[in-house]
Amino acid sequence: MAIMSIFNLIFPFLLVLLYSQSSATCSSITNRFTRCLNHRADPSFPINGQLYTSRNSSFPSVFQAYIRNLRFNESTTPKPIVIITALHPSHIQAAIVCAKTHRLLMKTRSGGHDYEGLSYVTNSNQPFFVVDMFKLCSVNISIEDETAWVQTGATLGEVYYRIAEKSNTHAFPAGICPTVGVGGHFSGGGYGNLMRKYGLAVDNIVDAQLIDVNGKLLNRKSMGEELFWAITGGGGVSFGVILAYKIKLVRVPPVVTVFNIQRTSQQNLSTIAHRWIQVADKLDNDVFVRMTFDVINNRNGKKIIRATFPTLYLGKSAALVKLMNKDFPQLGLKKSDCIEMSWIESVLFYRDFSIGTPTTALLSRTGEKLNPLKIKSDYVKEPISKQGFEFIFKKMKELENQLLDFNPYGGRMSEISEFAKPFPHRSGNIAKIQYEVNWEELGVEAAKRYVNFTRMMYDYMTPFVSKNPRAAFLNYRDLDIGVNSHGKNAYAEGMIYGHKYFKETNYNRLTMVKTSVDPNNFFRNEQSIPTLSS
Ligand SMILES: Cc1cc2nc3c(=O)[nH]c(=O)nc-3n(C[C@H](O)[C@H](O)[C@H](O)COP(=O)(O)OP(=O)(O)OC[C@H]3O[C@@H](n4cnc5c(N)ncnc54)[C@H](O)[C@@H]3O)c2cc1C
Ligand SMILES: *[C@@H]1O[C@H](CO)[C@@H](O)[C@H](O)[C@H]1NC(C)=O
Ligand SMILES: *[C@@H]1O[C@H](CO)[C@@H](O)[C@H](O)[C@H]1NC(C)=O
Ligand SMILES: *[C@@H]1O[C@H](CO)[C@@H](O)[C@H](O)[C@H]1NC(C)=O
Ligand SMILES: *[C@@H]1O[C@H](CO)[C@@H](O)[C@H](O)[C@H]1NC(C)=O
Ligand SMILES: *[C@@H]1O[C@H](CO)[C@@H](O)[C@H](O)[C@H]1NC(C)=O
Repeated sequence: MAIMSIFNLIFPFLLVLLYSQSSATCSSITNRFTRCLNHRADPSFPINGQLYTSRNSSFPSVFQAYIRNLRFNESTTPKPIVIITALHPSHIQAAIVCAKTHRLLMKTRSGGHDYEGLSYVTNSNQPFFVVDMFKLCSVNISIEDETAWVQTGATLGEVYYRIAEKSNTHAFPAGICPTVGVGGHFSGGGYGNLMRKYGLAVDNIVDAQLIDVNGKLLNRKSMGEELFWAITGGGGVSFGVILAYKIKLVRVPPVVTVFNIQRTSQQNLSTIAHRWIQVADKLDNDVFVRMTFDVINNRNGKKIIRATFPTLYLGKSAALVKLMNKDFPQLGLKKSDCIEMSWIESVLFYRDFSIGTPTTALLSRTGEKLNPLKIKSDYVKEPISKQGFEFIFKKMKELENQLLDFNPYGGRMSEISEFAKPFPHRSGNIAKIQYEVNWEELGVEAAKRYVNFTRMMYDYMTPFVSKNPRAAFLNYRDLDIGVNSHGKNAYAEGMIYGHKYFKETNYNRLTMVKTSVDPNNFFRNEQSIPTLSS
């Protein structure tokens, strides 16, 4: 009692003391840092109008604009001391130089879709700042040589829209969500529904512009092939700030076909799912059939599993129906389920926009409904039996808010060597699973509860997925699979998540690149590539 009341008495004073001390230190670091930035930036491109500190009234709205996971939109989420909305490469160069002088942790944010918020959040207690790339978003298409230069602050929707503006027979094989940023997505692998035909985004990148730890602007030739390899799948964060990528466009027919049919667990779903896992990676490369599961209530209020099969086919509907009914008759596809459209319309369809939505919707950076969420990933290397699927459905119903997406591999993915890019999950993988749990309630307690559900689901899935290591997809960032404290065991700590994301050979090669380009580990986060010496 006595101790408690003394504590109660002095606690508020302690808080005031701590708070005023830390804010005093912070504001002076902030002042020194912003002074350095103003001093360092190229005078022809003033930086001051791009600097936001807690004293600028628009700081919260600028910070929140690219938070795509409301789990990190809490008052307890650590805040950067400065946000720089870079307008010119010299702003990024100044940021790197001044951050080293003032020993600040730097975060680069493009689209802000990192599932653990690592482009704007740190768990390290260090003062940090954010370089926000959203204003560096040019997309310059050349249909003549079938390439484009894309700045990393552009969104995928902008890239797709600009391609379609110039040609209805070109496309780019990247992600499904139009608001995802080029910076994180391309550097981390980037897949979408063209992957069975053309591989990942990184399999179609031909050049890049990067600002290194010395503030030097490099291209593929001047950075060399090792660093270029590393930033096409090894994540951008460990190596520098990527300013732009040059991509190779791919060809699509003027008319493609889509469908999205729904089946429920009252319709022999385990039979359908079992057949899917036997054929989805072996179908013609022109077809991509995703399989997703969630839990709904039927008319009697009983929980049932709903499966959907969103599909893209690079051809006409008659050929698709024939192909599906030959290899996957269990799905029962009918011609009337199919819709023919242009590739750019299929991008909207796949993201559940209603038919006829103008393609300008792809340019919108706002308006999507956001939730707190947690994502995990797995790879399937052996077919899952009918009983296996029944077990999975049972567990999904026992837990809450479970969503599982199965993405088919095979096709072009199996033809590319696992060493061609840091992303190693090529031949031998049937599918990747994405686990998603999202919820409505705000607050740390609700988050704990739902995160626990997805961890339990992940545990239940152990018998069905890859082992030693249990592989994971870098762009589905998941801090549960290991974090790095960047102390003296950094290399060994990095192996834990590094082998899952990249496998051993690619992880080691990434650490060698890291050691040569950023030996003092300036560019880092909880899951970055450590140097070899550590
Ligand atoms: C709704 C949604 C849908 C998604 N759909 C897909 C999908 O279909 N396919 C797929 O592959 N993935 C998908 N993802 C995952 C997505 O690819 C990754 O989260 C990706 O990293 C996001 O890139 P970003 O630029 O938006 O993220 P950010 O949060 O800005 O960045 C992610 C990481 O990259 C670093 N980074 C960002 N920009 C740069 C840069 N210019 N230079 C150096 N480092 C940089 C950041 O510091 C951070 O570590 C999806 C994510 C969400 C939220
Ligand atoms: C933020 O406030 C500072 C100090 O008043 C000012 O110099 C700076 O230009 C402001 N930033 C923006 C983006 O307006
Ligand atoms: C994030 O939090 C702020 C402050 O509580 C709130 O005003 C804002 O609407 C939230 N963002 C979203 C997208 O809900
Ligand atoms: C695209 O073109 C514009 C105008 O010529 C130029 O300013 C921009 O730097 C180019 N972007 C890239 C990524 O090359
Ligand atoms: C489910 O499968 C059984 C056995 O194969 C079959 O008899 C039945 O008609 C199927 N039901 C549906 C709804 O497809
Ligand atoms: C989830 O929470 C339960 C109950 O608190 C606990 O027993 C279990 O270990 C947790 N599971 C995981 C995977 O975190």
